[in-house]
Amino acid sequence: MATSDQAQFAPNSAAARDIAYYLHPYTNIKAHEESGPLIINSGKGVFVYDDQGKEYIEGMAGLWCTSLGYGEERLAKAAYDQLLKMSYTQGFTHRSNETAIDLAEKLISIAPKGMSKVFFTNSGSEANDTQIKIVWYYNNAIGRPNKKKIIGRKRAYHGITLAASSLTGVEYAQKGFDVPLERFLHVSSAHYWRDGEDGESEEEYTDRLAEELNQLIISEGADTVAAFIAEPVMGAGGAIPPPKSYFPKIQTVLKNHDVLFIADEVITGFCRTGNMFATETYNLDPDLISVAKALSSAYLPIGAVMMKDEIYQGLRSGGDKFGMWNTGYTYSGHPASAAVALETLKIYEEREILDHVRSVMPKFRERLMSFAEHPLVGDVRNVGLIGGIELSPDKKNKGVFDPNEKVAPYFVSRAHEYGLILRAAPSDVIAFCPPLIISEKEINLVMDRAEKALDDTWNHVQKKGLV
Ligand SMILES: Cc1ncc(COP(=O)(O)O)c(C=O)c1O
Repeated sequence: MATSDQAQFAPNSAAARDIAYYLHPYTNIKAHEESGPLIINSGKGVFVYDDQGKEYIEGMAGLWCTSLGYGEERLAKAAYDQLLKMSYTQGFTHRSNETAIDLAEKLISIAPKGMSKVFFTNSGSEANDTQIKIVWYYNNAIGRPNKKKIIGRKRAYHGITLAASSLTGVEYAQKGFDVPLERFLHVSSAHYWRDGEDGESEEEYTDRLAEELNQLIISEGADTVAAFIAEPVMGAGGAIPPPKSYFPKIQTVLKNHDVLFIADEVITGFCRTGNMFATETYNLDPDLISVAKALSSAYLPIGAVMMKDEIYQGLRSGGDKFGMWNTGYTYSGHPASAAVALETLKIYEEREILDHVRSVMPKFRERLMSFAEHPLVGDVRNVGLIGGIELSPDKKNKGVFDPNEKVAPYFVSRAHEYGLILRAAPSDVIAFCPPLIISEKEINLVMDRAEKALDDTWNHVQKKGLV
């Protein structure tokens, strides 16, 4: 990526053509014309290489997704073989393909207790969008046509379709897009370090959050509230694991009001938190689960909704009123994506990725937690191979930097210089989410480089008089 003072790109270079033709997702459009793209052209294991040949270690597994790293021949071959054999069959009107059938069966066999059916999508956003259609259709089918409101949480990230971005609770994903749509509500997220009040214990804090949810449902009318959606561990909103007592209390409220619980496991699914699903890590009992990302290690796009039998039976009964279950994507259960996902799940088992994750988690945690002593670090948090460092100008009072100072983005750019890819989240959080195959030695490399970036950022904020 060029800096603004070298904003010329050779005519017809990839960078010039990128600027000319490619409108990027989640990118500052004007700044992009100045800086140009960072073009990553190859990768192997946990390393990627830009078009200048510079090597980076992946601290973020792409966008929380490349669980098996890069250059995995078995996944490429699974796609190739499937595409040659049968490149496409639809799933509509009773059509199927054996690969998608195998994948659905496999997913249910490893899913948290109670899941009975799978609906395939192409992404996490589509999975969450479909969740809403399922919940609405279900309630229409079983005679609860007014029970439609969906409650999400502030700081949550659930994707970008109109409905998924209405579930999302981060302002940056909503500004300018006229969302949230009607019938989408938000309660506080569970971030004890930042939002706990002076003298409030963690128990008192989670009591307060459960009561906030309870009161919202009561004031809206429980007969109008259909579902609550939550990421077991907040990802894009700041890598925030929940306090231990949070979900048990939230689930009690939901059960009391007969409100469905959707667990968005798009980031946390498939070994990330030290269990196959975070639903197990936090002993959750969701009615519906969204997955994507590590389902195929991002080698091809695929997502899915998994549901309890009770939900499936409701959809089934909808046929009496509405005829067919008329929703689906052209590429739902695409054979090549399904083949890659199936192979990904096989690799998780054969290479004992879950055991591997558990074996490297202590090193990841130890190195991450050592940042807690740094003068620029307010809070450090971790579960499994997810980590978050929240920067603060004044950790004692949990101060925040002016967002215009872009302190976390500065950190990320320094890390980048040192050959480490990390990601900034709102409130100056640095998120870590390396590929699951990362070794202890590679974890040390990530953390050594992050340490240098942190020291540079500390010097930077001191020089600018921000602390
Ligand atoms: C928790 C969660 N849900 C949903 C999504 C949306 O997934 P996608 O970008 O595949 O649409 C994301 C993306 O980061 C996510 O983190």
